[in-house]
Amino acid sequence: MSVLFQSIINTGKPYSLRQIISKSTRICKCFSKRKFSDISRKFLSFDEVAAQRRAEAKRSLVVQVNSEASFNELYGYCSKYASVNGIHHYKNSGDEHFMLIEFKTEEESKNVIHSCSSHQKDVDVMALHSPFLWFRAVSGKKEAFQIPKSQLMTTKGCNSIDEDNLIEELANCEDVSEQIQQMHDRTALNDLGVRLRYMVARQIERIFESLYANIVVRPFGSSVNGFGKMGCDLDLVLTNILNEEMCDSSKRLVYQEKKCEGGRSPWQRHMELVGELLELRVPGATRVQRILHARVPIVKYAHEFTDVDCDLCYNNMSGVYMSELLWLYGSLDPRVRPLTFVVRRWAQTVGLTNQHPGRWITNFPLTLMVLFFLQQKGKDGCVLPSLKTLVQYAGKEDIRLAEENLNCTFLRDMNKLPTDTYGQNKANLETLLLQFFEFYAQFDFHDKAISINEGVAIRKPNTLPLYIVNPLEQALNVSRNVSYEECERLKLEVRNAAWLLDAGLDGKKTDGWGILGLIERKSTRGLKNLLKVGNSHRLVSVKDLFNNDDDKIEKVKAKRDSEMKQVLAQVDNKPKEKIKFKNTQVASEVYRIRRDKII
Ligand code: GTP
Ligand code: MG
Repeated sequence: MSVLFQSIINTGKPYSLRQIISKSTRICKCFSKRKFSDISRKFLSFDEVAAQRRAEAKRSLVVQVNSEASFNELYGYCSKYASVNGIHHYKNSGDEHFMLIEFKTEEESKNVIHSCSSHQKDVDVMALHSPFLWFRAVSGKKEAFQIPKSQLMTTKGCNSIDEDNLIEELANCEDVSEQIQQMHDRTALNDLGVRLRYMVARQIERIFESLYANIVVRPFGSSVNGFGKMGCDLDLVLTNILNEEMCDSSKRLVYQEKKCEGGRSPWQRHMELVGELLELRVPGATRVQRILHARVPIVKYAHEFTDVDCDLCYNNMSGVYMSELLWLYGSLDPRVRPLTFVVRRWAQTVGLTNQHPGRWITNFPLTLMVLFFLQQKGKDGCVLPSLKTLVQYAGKEDIRLAEENLNCTFLRDMNKLPTDTYGQNKANLETLLLQFFEFYAQFDFHDKAISINEGVAIRKPNTLPLYIVNPLEQALNVSRNVSYEECERLKLEVRNAAWLLDAGLDGKKTDGWGILGLIERKSTRGLKNLLKVGNSHRLVSVKDLFNNDDDKIEKVKAKRDSEMKQVLAQVDNKPKEKIKFKNTQVASEVYRIRRDKII
């Protein structure tokens, strides 16, 4: 409960009873897994959470069913082989119904797997052991089952919140801090979303276990770093673990090995095989793409049973440690994740980020920008400590070496971090968001680099437009792909956002108040109003009119690039308008840019 109280104190305002109940239910869910002896520990470690999730996936199965109404029968049928912990229902985009069943133990889930039939009569099916199954309808008389001891845990558990409803909920919030918190709570990846992502990882692991004796498939990135939203992609890493037992030289019988011949890196060839297997053998895996000549070879695929887009790479443990670091920062203070969510969403709305790779910033460096801002020491102190501080408090148990001997050592157990190293700044989310934009509106991108290792800006080692130090490999810049034009746009957009937010903080809840002006497309809002006037009963869903598909994004990008030069020219020629900011220390001079000129 301490985390709950902290969030009330930190946002500077008590939540409504509804929010407290929904928040505390979530918190209790994760706290309930602790032992009584751990009660004084405020923070769980990333490894603890990942181990719980992996164990949960090992005792779970995903079964395609006819509809929600299949629950009783499925429950009754599976109960013949194992005790059921809980069943969650969801639908994928193909309108197919699935149920994720968690059993009491891994052994019991194996019993269910062994009970499966693998072949259909007269059909040549080469089935394989996978946790994704389907539930056959009975021909003839139905078996009678007892009434289930529990109900469905979730129904349609993977449906994202409707965009129009979200906007309406945000418009009805009391203040900007509540809007930011609400946006996070309503769009963050939910429990079922995380479970399914671990199931997808488990499926690959289980299939490859028969080919590789010591294989582990771990999720990383936004699915597990605490910054994932509903529908986010799944980054997976396939690693070869060498534990002490496997390297024990006293053991006399040793596996014969297959020598890999040919000039290419052996793992490039293994990844080719992985691609083939995904295409040929893995149920649910479709649209397999191999990107094998990159520095980190990747196989991309779509998992159609879960609607998850996957990127599978080999031995990229630094990616996992990076996710761990982000997760730790997010768990240290309850304001970090909501603030990052709103910034990511704003960047998406104004077109700074794009789901396709290119010369623009992506969510990962954007998240580092938020963390760096929260490390700044104001008059009250900082919200987050620098990575240098986390390294300083690391013990022997925190030593980690990733590929190419990359040192990824930092404190893992946040309970050991002295409380005076973080969290002194108690500003609420509204203030922090405004300060974030003001901070970057003032930031000297020309000469300075962003480094969460130091927690202060450092001199840029080269002339790349945007320099964000890779926290685990400090000689590298994680935003090296960002072009001059995109960096200029970033500067314009943060100034614009600071202006918009500051101008709307007069307490009046006009149209698009608070964060709505930042996360809702202006054109969409205009049209919505038009449709509302005297016609509220005929209001159509805006998403039906504006399909934000790739084509549209590409068109906007192309249009924007050509407008970019015009906008810059206009800004230079325009008499500079000085605007008043609450935090004059941070923002002494910010110029208003008319945002409708940009998109
Ligand atoms: P979304 O997929 O956009 O939701 O966010 P994400 O955090 O998953 O980002 P992305 O899929 O681009 O990258 C996955 C993870 O790889 C990140 O969370 C980081 O942990 C890691 N990562 C991304 N870029 C780099 C990089 O340049 N260097 C290193 N070492 N790790 C990176
Ligand atoms: Mg990702």
